[in-house]
Amino acid sequence: MELSGNTVLITGGASGIGYAMAEAFLAAGSEVIICGRREARLQEARQQHPKLHVKRCDVANEQERAALVEWVVSQFGNLNVLVNNAGVQRDIDFSNGITEFLAGENEIRVNLEAPIILSGMLVPHLKTKQAAAIINVSSGLGFIPAAKMPVYSATKAGIHAFCMAIRRQLQPLGIKVFEVIPPAVDTELNPQGRAQRGGFKANLSSTEFVAAVMKDLANDVPEIGYAMTAGLRNASRADLDKSFEQMNSRW
Ligand SMILES: NC(=O)c1ccc[n+]([C@@H]2O[C@H](COP(=O)([O-])OP(=O)(O)OC[C@H]3O[C@@H](n4cnc5c(N)ncnc54)[C@H](OP(=O)(O)O)[C@@H]3O)[C@@H](O)[C@H]2O)c1
Repeated sequence: MELSGNTVLITGGASGIGYAMAEAFLAAGSEVIICGRREARLQEARQQHPKLHVKRCDVANEQERAALVEWVVSQFGNLNVLVNNAGVQRDIDFSNGITEFLAGENEIRVNLEAPIILSGMLVPHLKTKQAAAIINVSSGLGFIPAAKMPVYSATKAGIHAFCMAIRRQLQPLGIKVFEVIPPAVDTELNPQGRAQRGGFKANLSSTEFVAAVMKDLANDVPEIGYAMTAGLRNASRADLDKSFEQMNSRW
């Protein structure tokens, strides 16, 4: 895809990978709208980049999601790229039953339902645009699940399947579908889990990761991995099982 001349909506664009993508699309000469739940973070992002457009929205909330779509289509008629990046991650122990899952944020709504519904809601608009694209952010954990994060891993495996399926369905409409598959990146994701793992550090910044992602987007690579996730596309079931054992015996 062309990186310039787009109008891009990035969910969860005020921090981490989403913010780095916002900066990269702005630098390439695209117009960028970001959303998230924390107004203060959105305003901070706009202070850094006055050209950014911001909208407070909880993408897991049906009414707020509908209002976002209505607002963005009416205010930004040229919108041609949706980046489903917003995500949450939690360690959840199912040996305690369902209690822990029900006690915290619902990863299924944020990570899986919201991207699916936002994609569907925006297809009628995107299909009228030249160079339309949907970019969904999954995770290496969608291919190699983390035993400590069963629901998160399942949502990201779901995003992978969704990307494959709609890539085929939307191709005749001229809408490209990309899957970005981050490895561990140093962001604000799952602070409790990272603290429990001794202040886990990946030594990979969002900026470095996104610089590589943008190159692959420009080259129309449909499934974009980096470092540990770069080989997932060609991994065999035996490779994935081996990585599953290695990763989950470390944690
Ligand atoms: N960091 C990693 O190691 C890693 C690895 C693989 C995949 N990923 C994926 O990368 C994506 C970005 O995460 P990140 O690592 O950059 O973490 P992050 O810095 O925590 O960014 C996540 C963003 O999503 C927003 N968000 C969360 N829930 C939302 C909701 N209900 N509605 C709207 N916005 C919401 C957050 O803003 P508010 O809290 O203000 O809403 C935040 O800006 C996620 O999909 C994540 O699963 C990350």
